[in-house]
Amino acid sequence: MLEIIIVAGARPNFVKIAPLIHKLLREENINYTLVHTGQHYDPLMNDVFFEDLSIPQPNYHLGIAGGSQNKQTSEIIIGFEEFLKDSAAKAVVVVGDVNSTMACSIVTKKLHKDLIHIEAGLRSLDRKMPEEINRILTDSITDYFFTTSRDAGYNLQKEGITEDRIFFVGNIMIDSLIQKIQFAQKPDIFRTYSLEDGDYYLLTLHRTDNVDDADVLTDILRAVSASIGNRKCVFPVHPRTEKMLRGTAIYKEIQNIEFIEPLRYLEFLYLQKNAKAVITDSGGIQEETTYMKVPCITYRTTTERPETISVGSNELATDLPTLKNLISKVEQGEWKTSEVPALWDGQAAERIVQKIKEIYSV
Ligand code: UD1
Repeated sequence: MLEIIIVAGARPNFVKIAPLIHKLLREENINYTLVHTGQHYDPLMNDVFFEDLSIPQPNYHLGIAGGSQNKQTSEIIIGFEEFLKDSAAKAVVVVGDVNSTMACSIVTKKLHKDLIHIEAGLRSLDRKMPEEINRILTDSITDYFFTTSRDAGYNLQKEGITEDRIFFVGNIMIDSLIQKIQFAQKPDIFRTYSLEDGDYYLLTLHRTDNVDDADVLTDILRAVSASIGNRKCVFPVHPRTEKMLRGTAIYKEIQNIEFIEPLRYLEFLYLQKNAKAVITDSGGIQEETTYMKVPCITYRTTTERPETISVGSNELATDLPTLKNLISKVEQGEWKTSEVPALWDGQAAERIVQKIKEIYSV
């Protein structure tokens, strides 16, 4: 029997571990333990995701919530060590690029366990992004790398990782989407704000670069508002962003953006699928819109997911004039046609489990 630990901490992690857990529940020779670090703790960022993704509650909860990046990281390190030091597990699986991913990776290797990273090798080359630091540090000590694209594998090889430890398995976040899109739920806000399918924009912003300065954040909102004219924009506000907006007058100033609470997974899928276009700074949303072929404008200077631009429906808006131009392209119906990247086919978790069985001969 192979014992493994799976770590999750923040909202996008839950979407990535769900398909893996569904597969492992059917495996007789692998036993998993799910550890939740507590990085995301609001019920709307957390509990409803476990329900919507149909996954069992975590086996352990470290209860680390809030604080600065480094306080959060150090507390997760201490909490996870307490848990892992008595564990008989052979390997720890981490996903994505959040603080929990990096913190638990360090503990794993210090306690001489194998480290498996799902969504390894992504690089934005922007070391001011906390996620980029998390990616580089995690991959520098990972034993087995599961990647979403060939580019990610090349990035790892450039950093000296040998090919025999890199497995191109596809995108596990898209496994979740494919399983759940048929259950997508139309949120009540359609009635509240008289929204029509295909006729509204969807906006999300939570990156430090975009939201930690109130002037930068309100300038983005003004640019969106001015560019979409009479159309509505729905803006589910992340807690980090909400804290910054609280002191501003922007809620009153802007009429065509509807500020709402974070949505559950199944409702958010509906909103994405039926949006005229999505404007975001999220990594996962660039991928989900690419799969659904919905125009996506990413308000960032770089992306660690280049195939969403070269193959998919995503474009980068590196400044406000570009953002406005891209919105007007959407309005004029001039968006590019796009394809779904290789192996984003709903089978990533299956490939990951097969490979893990091969590695550990179970
Ligand atoms: C984190 C990830 C980011 C991911 C995002 C998805 C890192 C470095 N960043 O960013 O990659 O795309 O999650 O949402 O790990 N907060 C709450 N309630 C919550 C969660 C957070 O109030 O449930 C507050 C925190 O106390 C903190 C702020 O929001 O003040 C930011 O949370 P944090 O977990 O540090 O990072 P995110 O911005 O959510």
